[in-house]
Amino acid sequence: MNGPRYRLQPVRSVRGELRVPGDKSISHRALMLGAIASGRTAISGFLASEDCLATLAGLAALGVRIERPAATEVRIDGVGHHGLSAASGPLDMGNAGTAIRLLMGLLAGQRFDSTLIGDASLMRRPMERVAAPLRAMGARIDTAEGRPPVRIHGGAPLQGIDYVLPMASAQVKSALLLAALYAQGSTQVTEPAPTRDHTERMLRGFGVELTSEAGRVSLTGGQQLHGCEIAVPGDFSSAAFFIVAGCLAAHQGLTIRDVGVNPTRTGLVQMLRLMGADIELRPHAAGVAGGAGAPEPTADIHVRASALRGVEVPPSLVALAIDEFPAFFIAAAAAQGPTTVTGAAELRVKESDRLAVMAAGLAAVGIECELLADGLRIQGGRIGGGVVDSHGDHRIAMAFAVASVLASDPIEILDVANVATSFPGFPQLARQAGLALEASS
Ligand code: S3P
Repeated sequence: MNGPRYRLQPVRSVRGELRVPGDKSISHRALMLGAIASGRTAISGFLASEDCLATLAGLAALGVRIERPAATEVRIDGVGHHGLSAASGPLDMGNAGTAIRLLMGLLAGQRFDSTLIGDASLMRRPMERVAAPLRAMGARIDTAEGRPPVRIHGGAPLQGIDYVLPMASAQVKSALLLAALYAQGSTQVTEPAPTRDHTERMLRGFGVELTSEAGRVSLTGGQQLHGCEIAVPGDFSSAAFFIVAGCLAAHQGLTIRDVGVNPTRTGLVQMLRLMGADIELRPHAAGVAGGAGAPEPTADIHVRASALRGVEVPPSLVALAIDEFPAFFIAAAAAQGPTTVTGAAELRVKESDRLAVMAAGLAAVGIECELLADGLRIQGGRIGGGVVDSHGDHRIAMAFAVASVLASDPIEILDVANVATSFPGFPQLARQAGLALEASS
């Protein structure tokens, strides 16, 4: 029942030096932009996770030749602006929200029809946030009451639009920028709060001209992308689990090397520092993760254990830490006093309803918390032991693995197979850091 599980014993201490796998957001984008570029794109540090491999398989089904000389090395022979061809069946994006939404944008301007589907979690997630503005650009798209399957009817000419996003979503912004490449005229996308800007940086690396200021990105259609080299940094969202583990129990310090620290991703560091965390970012010279000329900042992250106190999280940090809340809620559970997060209703439409599933998991390990419409209020205290159902949500499974560090009793986590969607090798790396994690199928 509930498939593979983790069983963790309390350990009280983590330590050492780690490297986490490549960034998921950047890996998806590198594949998609490389596919429609002219010439060759070489990706190193690629995240060979189920999500990114779903994008890779989807692009291969659309006629793109992609080689993987090693698990984390990818070579793409770009087919050029109009070189994609119809897939023979539906494109299955598995658990990957980024893959389905960005591909909606990319496929809206093609001359052929496409159908996008996914696993049970993805089939429940909202797609109209992308479909509606794409329709306003002229695309012909059907969803099933807002959810996949997403059917895209090819051959619809696209026009640029001026669109104000109703929610802070890098996926919607990115889908519209990809569609804008195929649209006549210019497209402007305005976001209500800053979100990850990997698409903008990487488009520049592929030679696309775009402007981006004061939350407004502008791009003119018809531009040809040129293949380039991309070095993907470690995924900050994967590092986040070890950052929190380090805050709780790295009495001698814990270092995570070569992590992407794009400021649109590192809100967790600010949130933890507000709680009194001791986290140091040691920046590297600029890398080429965005493609030559559009680098992504990288750093080594050094964490030491400290006494955390509860905080009210400023809503302005929410979008900058959107994937890190499962890990952050564990820090809040271990802090002294209450922590309140509001303005985070987007967490309800992630791989699971992360507010409800985290609240149930925290209650299962003895932490008092109150579920709010758009957030959580957590009363920090003593983490006990118990059985937590991750509901197939990779980040929730990994967050409760971190909670075991300070737990009074063993924690068992159910339904953990989807950890492989973003973090292959998590159990091994967790053990390397000192967690007592046993995985069983
Ligand atoms: C992502 C954007 C975020 C994030 C997701 C990856 C991306 O989603 O939660 O894991 O790569 O653009 P939203 O843009 O829907 O918030």
